[in-house]
Amino acid sequence: MPTMREIRMAAVPAGLPQVADLTVVETPVPVPGPGEVLVRNRYFTVFAALRTLLGGVQGAPLPGLRPGDTLFGPAVGETVTGPRPGTLVRHMRGWREYALVPDAECDPIGDVLPDPIAHLAQGPTVYGALTRAAPVRPGDTVFVSGGAGAVGSMAGQLARLLGAARVVGSTGSAWKADRMTGLGYDAVVTRGAGPIAEQLAKAAPDGVDVFFDNVGGEELAAAIAAANRSARFALVGALSGQLAEHGTGTTAPAEIDSYQLILKQIAMTGYSAGGDTALRSEWDERFAQWSRAGRIEFPHVRVEGIEQAPAALRDVLTGRHFGAVVVALE
Ligand SMILES: NC(=O)c1ccc[n+]([C@@H]2O[C@H](COP(=O)([O-])OP(=O)(O)OC[C@H]3O[C@@H](n4cnc5c(N)ncnc54)[C@H](OP(=O)(O)O)[C@@H]3O)[C@@H](O)[C@H]2O)c1
Repeated sequence: MPTMREIRMAAVPAGLPQVADLTVVETPVPVPGPGEVLVRNRYFTVFAALRTLLGGVQGAPLPGLRPGDTLFGPAVGETVTGPRPGTLVRHMRGWREYALVPDAECDPIGDVLPDPIAHLAQGPTVYGALTRAAPVRPGDTVFVSGGAGAVGSMAGQLARLLGAARVVGSTGSAWKADRMTGLGYDAVVTRGAGPIAEQLAKAAPDGVDVFFDNVGGEELAAAIAAANRSARFALVGALSGQLAEHGTGTTAPAEIDSYQLILKQIAMTGYSAGGDTALRSEWDERFAQWSRAGRIEFPHVRVEGIEQAPAALRDVLTGRHFGAVVVALE
């Protein structure tokens, strides 16, 4: 019987997940039942939100995990069964070499993007936030907290393409600032290098019109202080809480000046792209055009082989990588 490998949760992490909290398991390649397709995975992403899911907490957009469960997340693979074997599809059953995917959850990626791996970019979330929740207008100053991560590295580029005049990002890793500037950020503020509010006031001397928040906490408070009248805030992530060393990563307390929200008439929206398929198609088309014109890239680190995935998760959570992290199974 042919076998495959997958990554399962071994234990509930105490604090941030460690490599030993995950295990590589050899198991038979599954046989599809009615309404299922067998997919040979080629790529899957290693992403920060897994920290919360590994804590087993329910109520997040994705279900929590228990010991023995196989991890999951965005993946691209090719169908082995179904009407057209060899079709490249996107789905949510990463972290395994072969996946059984319900027909309805198999999303053929077509050939609109030059590289299948680009379908793992966090584009729809970023595009939806900056066109729907907190629309960027020509001439705006945009602040992206967590600007070097999988989401943030796309958000900084997209803000510019949508017409921002100045784009400021934040990071907690000083070495990432140069990479961010190379990606188009005009200025970078660094957690741990002094109060964020003071750094942001210098980095955005004309104030902030749009805030794309991946972090919360001190960065949210600083963005409110720097905001211009009628600023738009899209709250997409809360890494300051999600990646806190202790606890479950499910709260992100922040002390903010709510009076300023009123005085400045700031519109603050929690945003999730969810399964908005129209948004995804719109993004794919625009991403393809911008990619062909050399105006956007998908910053990512490629990790070879499923056995490297547990260490890759630890590295994502400790800030070792720039952009997205993709495990390649070719
Ligand atoms: N709403 C939605 O639909 C949606 C969809 C996808 C993702 N998200 C959320 O978007 C956010 C970003 O996701 P991502 O996958 O791009 O994550 P990410 O930014 O790649 O996460 C890893 C990075 O977080 C930073 N970090 C580590 N510890 C931190 C701390 N204590 N405080 C602040 N930052 C810390 C590090 O970057 P530095 O070295 O630069 O500090 C690290 O490289 C997450 O909150 C995620 O849950 C939301």
